[in-house]
Amino acid sequence: MTRMVGWCAGMPEQKTILVTGTSTGIGHAAAIHFAERGWNVLAGSRHPEKLHFIQERITPIGIDVNSIESVDRCFADERVKKIDCLVNNAGYGLLLPFEDTPPEEIERMFRTNVFGLMEVSRRAAKLFREKRAGTIINISSVLGRIGAPWYSVYCASKFAVEGFSESLSHELRPFGVHVKIVEPSGTQTGFHHIAYDTEKFPITQDYRARYETKRNDHDRGVNRYDTPESVAAVIWQAATDGAWKLRYPLRQAKQAALARRLLGEEGLWRKLLKKFGSL
Ligand SMILES: NC(=O)c1ccc[n+]([C@@H]2O[C@H](COP(=O)([O-])OP(=O)(O)OC[C@H]3O[C@@H](n4cnc5c(N)ncnc54)[C@H](OP(=O)(O)O)[C@@H]3O)[C@@H](O)[C@H]2O)c1
Repeated sequence: MTRMVGWCAGMPEQKTILVTGTSTGIGHAAAIHFAERGWNVLAGSRHPEKLHFIQERITPIGIDVNSIESVDRCFADERVKKIDCLVNNAGYGLLLPFEDTPPEEIERMFRTNVFGLMEVSRRAAKLFREKRAGTIINISSVLGRIGAPWYSVYCASKFAVEGFSESLSHELRPFGVHVKIVEPSGTQTGFHHIAYDTEKFPITQDYRARYETKRNDHDRGVNRYDTPESVAAVIWQAATDGAWKLRYPLRQAKQAALARRLLGEEGLWRKLLKKFGSL
């Protein structure tokens, strides 16, 4: 299905979006979602040569958010200079007790989920500020708003994305540039295989039983998770609604926001202690 959608009513206009991390999952679904609605899509990936999209409007482009040289190369491309929207999607999770998480794994995660996202944002901020238009959409998580056991480092990285994005929105708003945060909840992607690939890390005996319970809960619950396409639809909404709106939560993130309103911060924390079996 191809449908032209104009930015201004009655004035169809070709829009271009750059999405990072499009080989799988949410980024892949977002690339297709935008292309099917008439946008040109620059599908960012560490391995653009391996990407296969049937949509003509999608052009794979190399970007490894861990490498300044790669990010610079990407933004030196004339096609990237024309983007109207950036989606900082590349990222991954890790499910491990904090005590058992080696410092180099913490650095690795922050390099991708936070520092990489910041460097891509820096270049888009310049581009959009000079054009006096544009939208940066950062993919956070429900775990950017609440803490959860065994996700301490991932939560810290997504809390950082939330604080960074909210601050950046203040800096760029006077130039007509939107900064938005999409907060997926559990989504059926390869994310969980990567996050749960922790065999190489020995888990402290005291944590083991509760940790295993969480893994088993996940295995039972994964079929009820959101689809990547439903997250792509929310990214689309954030990119096209023209609203000065900061957060776009999905299911569990909406529930957490409601619980926070009803119970307050401490009340929500106590509720989560019970939910996660920490009491
Ligand atoms: N799935 C969930 O339950 C969930 C929930 C909340 C938030 N999120 C967030 O949604 C975003 C997309 O995740 P997903 O669920 O779609 O997972 P995914 O299927 O694993 O896709 C993540 C993409 O990010 C890129 N990437 C992964 N690790 C990277 C690394 N070390 N360095 C650079 N790029 C890397 C990869 O793209 P390339 O190989 O093409 O470079 C990969 O296709 C992430 O930011 C994640 O934190 C996911």
